Amino acid sequence: MQPVTRTVQPHRDTRANFMKRSTAKHKPWRDHYSQQAKKDRFPARSVYKLEEIQKKQRLIKKGDKVLDLGCAPGSWLLYAAKLTGPKGRVIGVDLKPLSIQVPSHLKIITADVFSLDIESLEKDFNVVLSDMAPATTGHKGVDADRSYNLCETALEIAQRILLPGGSFVCKIFQGSDFNLFLDAVRAGFKELKIFKPQSSRKASKEIYVIGLGFKGN
Ligand SMILES: C[S@@+](CC[C@H](N)C(=O)[O-])C[C@H]1O[C@@H](n2cnc3c(N)ncnc32)[C@H](O)[C@@H]1O
Repeated sequence: MQPVTRTVQPHRDTRANFMKRSTAKHKPWRDHYSQQAKKDRFPARSVYKLEEIQKKQRLIKKGDKVLDLGCAPGSWLLYAAKLTGPKGRVIGVDLKPLSIQVPSHLKIITADVFSLDIESLEKDFNVVLSDMAPATTGHKGVDADRSYNLCETALEIAQRILLPGGSFVCKIFQGSDFNLFLDAVRAGFKELKIFKPQSSRKASKEIYVIGLGFKGN
């Protein structure tokens, strides 16, 4: 989620001037996608990143079982639940509790993935998603290292619970371990894709690594 920055305005600055500076001209991506998410009744604009991935790769199908790691505030969850339909199953995991109403084929687990009991999770998933992001420090190297740790854990979970042929989508902040992560995904999946959604900020180091066709254990 984007940090909110506040600028102290000189006394004579009017509210109208302040509003002019902080509107679409400065953060058009934020306004457009946030407003669209509101209209489409999703809690966050991140939904459009998964929508772009879905349109390109057709990963989630009716009746599928999907695990969504880092699911709060719940946009990917709701979108995935729509795609699977009520005959599917979607399980979300996040550190933060969710405050949204969810359909009955959807389950939420409030937990830290680093201490998640993988054995207690259901098995035979078709798709594992991870949009997990560490709390950012502003130090790109530290943030990338923390993101890599989350991705390693997401991949480990995926490899324990995916059905052969299954898919994996994982957000990573590109840093020095990026290629290491690509190699690990390449080793476990028949195909590897790297995708930067249009709805992701150009300046952001985030990118999605997609593994298709899980080779199985
Ligand atoms: C960008 S948000 C995900 C947005 C979500 N895909 C959506 O569409 O609503 C990243 C999430 O990762 C979660 N997260 C970060 N570290 C985590 C961890 N160790 N275990 C579980 N969730 C984590 C954060 O709490 C945060 O909610």
